[in-house]
Amino acid sequence: MKDQWNLRYSTSEYVYGTEPNDVLREQEPQLLRGSKILCLADGEGRNGVFLAERGHSVTSVDASVIGLEKAQQLALERGVEIKTVVADLAEFDLGTGQWDAIVSIFCHVPPPLRVKIHSQVSRALRKGGVFLLEAYTPDQLQHHTGGPPFAELMMSETLLRSELTGMEFEFCHEREREIHEGALHNGISSVVQCFARRIDP
Ligand SMILES: C[S@@+](CC[C@H](N)C(=O)[O-])C[C@H]1O[C@@H](n2cnc3c(N)ncnc32)[C@H](O)[C@@H]1O
Repeated sequence: MKDQWNLRYSTSEYVYGTEPNDVLREQEPQLLRGSKILCLADGEGRNGVFLAERGHSVTSVDASVIGLEKAQQLALERGVEIKTVVADLAEFDLGTGQWDAIVSIFCHVPPPLRVKIHSQVSRALRKGGVFLLEAYTPDQLQHHTGGPPFAELMMSETLLRSELTGMEFEFCHEREREIHEGALHNGISSVVQCFARRIDP
């Protein structure tokens, strides 16, 4: 898996562009100023670097060393710092009470791993912490405008509402929208978007 991503990122281009994801840009004002944020599967870093530019303290994790090298390059160009961790999410512990926000943008992993990650989210967040996600739904397969070619790697509102235990949803909905993110996400797309807050005991 990491070889495939390293190969994909082995070009001077940023394959998903250098601008942040639209949902992240829209929701960022909801984050606490100076939040400590974990960006899951941050790839070439467009989202982590955007958050660092907004004054947040960012840790980006991804399995691709080449993706994260490009993330550090982008951070340097923008005059900000991010922490990068090269790791397979299967072996990465999200921790306990660590983060003000966890961001997951197009992090399509096999279902058992996805369930494991989502089950850690609530515990990993600090009091009042939030989780933001955008991902493709199985309907995306008809569009051929981006995303993995397998329905089982996609997500749905129903799956997310059941997997993200201990979280209260501000929204979790499926949408059709135009996406233009670099060369690889381009055109009308079927997505699920979710913004959820940790339920405090
Ligand atoms: C579609 S890209 C999205 C990258 C970034 N979130 C963005 O929106 O620009 C998916 C990313 O997931 C990462 N990834 C896939 N499986 C992973 C795993 N098991 N552990 C860590 N990263 C993984 C890939 O390396 C890749 O960077």
